Amino acid sequence: MYDAAPMKILGLETSCDETGVAVYDSERGLLAQELYSQIDLHKIYGGVVPEIASRDHVRCLLPLIKKVIKNAAIESPAAVAYTAGPGLVGALMVGSGLANGLGLAWNCPVIPIHHMEGHLLAPMLEEDPPQYPFLALLVSGGHTMLVAVNGLGRYDVLGSTLDDAVGEAFDKSAKLLGLGYPGGPAIAALAEKGNPEAYSFPRPMLHRQGLDFSFSGLKTAVMLQVKKLVKEGNIDSARADIASSFQCAAVDTLVTQSIKAAKQTHLNRIVVAGGVGANLHLRQELVKRFAGRVYYPRPEFCTDNGAMIAIAGALRFSDGSEPTIINAVARWSLETLAPPGSASLHKLSIPTG
Ligand code: KG4
Ligand code: ZN
Repeated sequence: MYDAAPMKILGLETSCDETGVAVYDSERGLLAQELYSQIDLHKIYGGVVPEIASRDHVRCLLPLIKKVIKNAAIESPAAVAYTAGPGLVGALMVGSGLANGLGLAWNCPVIPIHHMEGHLLAPMLEEDPPQYPFLALLVSGGHTMLVAVNGLGRYDVLGSTLDDAVGEAFDKSAKLLGLGYPGGPAIAALAEKGNPEAYSFPRPMLHRQGLDFSFSGLKTAVMLQVKKLVKEGNIDSARADIASSFQCAAVDTLVTQSIKAAKQTHLNRIVVAGGVGANLHLRQELVKRFAGRVYYPRPEFCTDNGAMIAIAGALRFSDGSEPTIINAVARWSLETLAPPGSASLHKLSIPTG
């Protein structure tokens, strides 16, 4: 549809509680990026409040775009890529609406991007990116998935969580321990001071066939242990041990299933992406236990950001179309994606149900 000449793509990420904006140049790499985290707004509620998230994207997105366009020293981009889903619909609509408006104003194509595809392409921002095919371990607040990535838009989901996502388990366990939101970094920090073998928490699914995950039992085990310790009056001295033992169980589960998946698919490259991919213990254990090579983006590109959407847009440039439809979908399977050029992304629309 559009030619594949060197180009600069503006990427917008607004699927949850981070407003991310970046300009990626297909020849020179990342030119500029800004990230605004709403964490302080949601902290007091112990989780993301969708209405507050949407309103804050409205407040922040345009000033951040202006700043990034100025810092990238461009007049206008060749296309605007935006996260179309999955995520919070109201939050997605802010990015989608503005992307389409900018597309009209700049007379350029707009490209809807799947948030998890953005995550799995984030290591492509690094100097030594992985070659296809590879196995992707996608671990965030909303997803836990093992995906065979055979090329851009050629994804087979090998396993996913049957209940809670691993990031959710980190967040909920942190809440039980009285730690702040988001729980992942808080647990990781506290775990440094604890004994990973102090409590033997469950590692569900490891002794079953298949590559799925389940984290609700682990969260419940933490809850029961915390209740017991509170009753005994011993919780304060045990917090670090619980954090460390929880992290150890969650990471062991992720690493064991990933290695199983790599063996089954004969893939010798694993990409770790998504917010929980910032976890140092997960990175260290995978490198230690996996015989192949492990790739991960720098920690700032593990959590939500605009750069991963901008690079996904550059790789999917031929999917760009005239700004005609506001795409914002809460649920969207990665497996419905297709390689660029097949225009499958344009069948999306705002859910009505
Ligand atoms: O990818 P992301 O920024 O947003 C979603 O798409 O969900 O992931 C956020 C999740 C949260 O659950 C957060 O607690 C977790 O990633 N997280 C971590 C770490 N940093 C963020 N979990 C474990 N260790 C970390 N260092
Ligand atoms: Zn994410």
